[in-house]
Amino acid sequence: MNVSIIGTGHVGLVTGACLAERGHRVLCVDSDEKKIRFLRAGRMPIYEPGLEALVRRVRKAGRLHFGGTNADAVAFGKVVFICVPTPPTPSGGADLSYVEGVSRDIARALEDYRLVVEKSTVPVRTGEHVRRVLAKYARKGAAFDVASNPEFLREGAAIEDTLHPDRIVLGVETRRAEMILRELYRPFRAPILVTDLKSAELIKHASNSFLALKISYINAIAEICERAGASVTEVARGMGLDRRIGPEFLRAGLGYGGSCFPKDVAAFEAISRELGYHFRLLREVRRINAEARDRFVRKVEEELWIVRGKTIAALGLSFKPDTDDVRESPAVDVVRRLAAKGARLRAYDPRAGEPARELLGGGVTICGSALEACTGADCALLLTEWEEFRRLDWARIRRVMAHPTVLDGRNALDPVRMRELGFTYRSVGRP
Ligand code: UGA
Repeated sequence: MNVSIIGTGHVGLVTGACLAERGHRVLCVDSDEKKIRFLRAGRMPIYEPGLEALVRRVRKAGRLHFGGTNADAVAFGKVVFICVPTPPTPSGGADLSYVEGVSRDIARALEDYRLVVEKSTVPVRTGEHVRRVLAKYARKGAAFDVASNPEFLREGAAIEDTLHPDRIVLGVETRRAEMILRELYRPFRAPILVTDLKSAELIKHASNSFLALKISYINAIAEICERAGASVTEVARGMGLDRRIGPEFLRAGLGYGGSCFPKDVAAFEAISRELGYHFRLLREVRRINAEARDRFVRKVEEELWIVRGKTIAALGLSFKPDTDDVRESPAVDVVRRLAAKGARLRAYDPRAGEPARELLGGGVTICGSALEACTGADCALLLTEWEEFRRLDWARIRRVMAHPTVLDGRNALDPVRMRELGFTYRSVGRP
């Protein structure tokens, strides 16, 4: 089937490449010409394991193309995916101006029937608005359907998540739209759930908010564990063995970040409010998440007493391991706050050094290795749980540090071993 993708960001690019991998012909367009030139040159605008090789393979097979206008996308694809950003507004809602703009472009280019699919994360009832825009700006009698097909991919595991999803959600309004999307996804051999449009939109916000809630829940438990002298890892293990709860997303630490959870929780709260329901539970989820960082910064202050003038090594800058994404990263936030308090920060991240440098400016030294960052440091902070940090030669790190203190914000290291090595070691919710 011919498929077009409008918006070649993380979601659009991965979706396009994976649809091509499953045998479809895909055209990806983007308003950012630089990005398209980059992609045509075989380079990736984002770091995602396996993506570059996959893109190379499907382009060589002639099934994936980059470039063109939104009108070209409409001419090419029987299905047109909208994958443009929906950034937060100052009040926490989702800015839907890109979605609206693209919908107008699609409308003006409509000739034959097209199925327009929202894949960007949007508040419930966006599909309704898209349908209205299409009807308003398209020529009279133009045939189209609107559907919602939310993505559930995680950065760092995006290809695996897209090729082998737990479920594919299809929010449709007509039988025709359902049949087209079923055919599109048949090669994926994954469970398909067909719903109405609004329910599909809600599934995405409800799922992300629930996962964020799980993280805040365990971070609240971590706080209680610290006060009571219990271990949050043991509590999480005991809870996770209950199949109704499950072991995932119960890792306590600095809380969630990234381009999805913070934005989606706030947007879900905003749309709920608009619908007349005050989702106070989500406000609390956000509060607990913010508090996890505050507590960690306080711990650093407890250890160092006076932060000003101290040298602090920060290990990890990305919002989670296996990505170079620093958007809403708890690690970057902690680094920034300590730098603002007058500490000398020496940071290292296996992938996110450069993107973080742009965010942090000149006040923070970005180092080429963990060892370099820790050299002469009064204290080291583990802020993102990269595997590399678990495997570090900590005995050697101890020798190069001015004072052997490690504050582990992700519970990535073994407390017993760290103390045996002679470190003053503190983590989150563990005695
Ligand atoms: C998330 C969802 O997991 C995807 O299903 C969804 O498609 C995506 O958002 C999206 O809306 O596009 P992602 O943001 O890539 O994916 O990252 P996650 O792996 O879910 O992690 C989110 C944050 O939660 C990270 O900062 C991570 O460190 C944190 N986290 C995760 C914890 O603090 N504890 C945990 O136990 C798990």
